[in-house]
Amino acid sequence: MVRKAVCPGSFDPVTNGHIDIVSRASQLFDEVVVAVGLNQSKARARLFTPEERMEMLEKVCAPYANVTIAGFEGLLTSFCEQNGIRAIVKGLRAVSDFDYELQMAQMNSSLAEVETVFIPTSPENSFLASSLVKEVAAFGGDVSGLVPPDVLTRLMQRLAERAAEGEERRS
Ligand code: PNS
Repeated sequence: MVRKAVCPGSFDPVTNGHIDIVSRASQLFDEVVVAVGLNQSKARARLFTPEERMEMLEKVCAPYANVTIAGFEGLLTSFCEQNGIRAIVKGLRAVSDFDYELQMAQMNSSLAEVETVFIPTSPENSFLASSLVKEVAAFGGDVSGLVPPDVLTRLMQRLAERAAEGEERRS
């Protein structure tokens, strides 16, 4: 039996914390699908398009032979059922993550035959979140140790584009 897992998320953009969890999941399961949530609800708040987020993931996950990238719309449990996936892997950074993650895990297991497997993040990533990376970078902070080099380049480019658009709108 092939043991498959999904690592779901928004990945806007992928950080070193995500890569840590994906690489560790790739050692525990035969196949790991990194699944990018494409639901429209927060689409306007995203910095990167779904295609861009998936492209960055393709690149940074290339070293892991049993990891593939996919997009999904709708319920994560439907994606799991369609792809014969029984395990959802989530990284846990702190106790504060646990309440919401437990609620989602219980909801997901009530919807389909899936188990959620929590992997504690490495201590050096325990404060890491895509939203914070974007905010720190937007205000000129150094995030070079928090995302892969290619992602850093694209992040700085996109923030510069957004800043220029803002200037244009104000003038
Ligand atoms: O990186 P994020 O934003 O924490 O990822 C959240 C994601 C995409 C994993 C989550 O919102 C999700 O699973 N969305 C799919 C819709 C769904 O299944 N909702 C019910 C969750 S119990």
